[in-house]
Amino acid sequence: MIYLEQFSYLFASALFILGLKFLGSAKTARKGMQLAMYGMGLAIVITLVVSGIAGPVQIIVGMLIGGGIGAVVAKKIQMTSMPQMVALFNGFGGIASTLVAYSEYIRFTGAEAMDVNITVILSLFIGTVTFTGSLIAFAKLQGIMRGAPIVLPLHQILNILLLLGTITFGVMNVLSPDVHMWAWFIIAAAAIFGITFVIPIGGADMPVVIALLNSYSGLAAAATGFVLSNNVLIISGALVGASGLILTQLMCDAMNRSLTNVLFGAVGTDDSTGEAGAGGEQKSVTAYTAEDAAMIMDTIQSVIIVPGYGLAVAQAQHVLHELGEILTARGIDVKYAIHPVAGRMPGHMNVLLAEANVPYDVLYEMDDINDEFQNTDVALVIGANDVVNPSARTKKDSPLYGMPILNVDYASTVMFVKRSMGAGFAGEANPLFFDDKTMMVFGDAKAVVTALVKSLKED
Ligand code: TAP
Repeated sequence: MIYLEQFSYLFASALFILGLKFLGSAKTARKGMQLAMYGMGLAIVITLVVSGIAGPVQIIVGMLIGGGIGAVVAKKIQMTSMPQMVALFNGFGGIASTLVAYSEYIRFTGAEAMDVNITVILSLFIGTVTFTGSLIAFAKLQGIMRGAPIVLPLHQILNILLLLGTITFGVMNVLSPDVHMWAWFIIAAAAIFGITFVIPIGGADMPVVIALLNSYSGLAAAATGFVLSNNVLIISGALVGASGLILTQLMCDAMNRSLTNVLFGAVGTDDSTGEAGAGGEQKSVTAYTAEDAAMIMDTIQSVIIVPGYGLAVAQAQHVLHELGEILTARGIDVKYAIHPVAGRMPGHMNVLLAEANVPYDVLYEMDDINDEFQNTDVALVIGANDVVNPSARTKKDSPLYGMPILNVDYASTVMFVKRSMGAGFAGEANPLFFDDKTMMVFGDAKAVVTALVKSLKED
């Protein structure tokens, strides 16, 4: 039985690693998810069977209930709410690690080696920080809590005291493992630290925090794996820990911010309702209709479409694909430019466009397409704002300053499709709206693109 268990764990771990490899490309990502899913299913079943804690009926009923809830939630969740869902799932992973570690701790017989005790402490601490931190991230993204940074008096000193307290309680716990009070103190300090760690971070940076907490949930699981001497938990936890950290770094790089700045910079606004013409200036823009846009499209040879968060809100991806097909059929060169942090989660735009069957070969990463805008007739910006805001290049006091942007302002004409003059997630005014080469087509992205398609078809 032990060989079956270890071989199954090895096989499940190989599926996780292959799954991660396939997740590296949009074309193979679906397959990667499926492989990782099979690996996790195998690991769960083998663990339950071998440990003997549940019979076959209980295992099947449990998996049906758990899988059913997961399937319904995943189907129902809006793509724009995905970061909240990931935050909640991270939190559940964290609390699961805490509960498993604590249940092992109360079974201690006094003969445990010190390293087992230390891994229990790590698991309790990281698991609980992940739990409360993720709940705060969820609350901020869901609008239950203010998105703006909340900084308490002596905030960092409080955090340092909580960490020092945890270390002290941990040492006491190692010295006298039978005194349960120390474990409870660790859990309490970790719970408060999770909250004080996340509240000073602005809502706009929450997706980065979620990636970091995801990494923590992996580390907590790996620590729990050591407590239980369970290899597949150690490997899968380490994979989540490492990939979460890499993702965190990639997101910081894409925004040209350091992780320290994200965690301690208290950057961000409460919402995205700032007006574009900030600074009290009275500037005006000319509003165009979808029909005007269609007339321009009749005369051009190339267009680069830049999707952003508003595309996801409007669920305009399918009609956008139809527009792309119509333009291509007319001999127009159509490309899509994907900014690494467009939308609200990594790969958000890729997922949306893949859902609408937009071919992968017309999708271009920022670095691959930025030089092409200068030779392009129209940059069609659909529900994007921050990722094309030129203030990121020039305005030193802007939260966007330093973030590489898509060079849409180098195209001959820039068309913005959005509902108002409202700013993007960072709350920064976009001077490009007032540029002479810019056409503002106001309206919901789906309604405008549908009208554009209709106009082009009537031509
Ligand atoms: P944003 O800058 O947030 O701009 C989205 C625009 O979409 C808004 O200005 C809004 O203007 C418009 N919009 C909203 N609903 C719409 C609808 N139904 N139809 C048409 N337009 C609509 O989005 P972005 O350019 O994609 O930039 C992403 C932002 O999120 C960046 O600041 C980035 O740093 C941040 N962020 C992203 C990530 C990841 S991983 N993607 C992680 C952390 C932070 P109106 O209200 O006027 O319509």
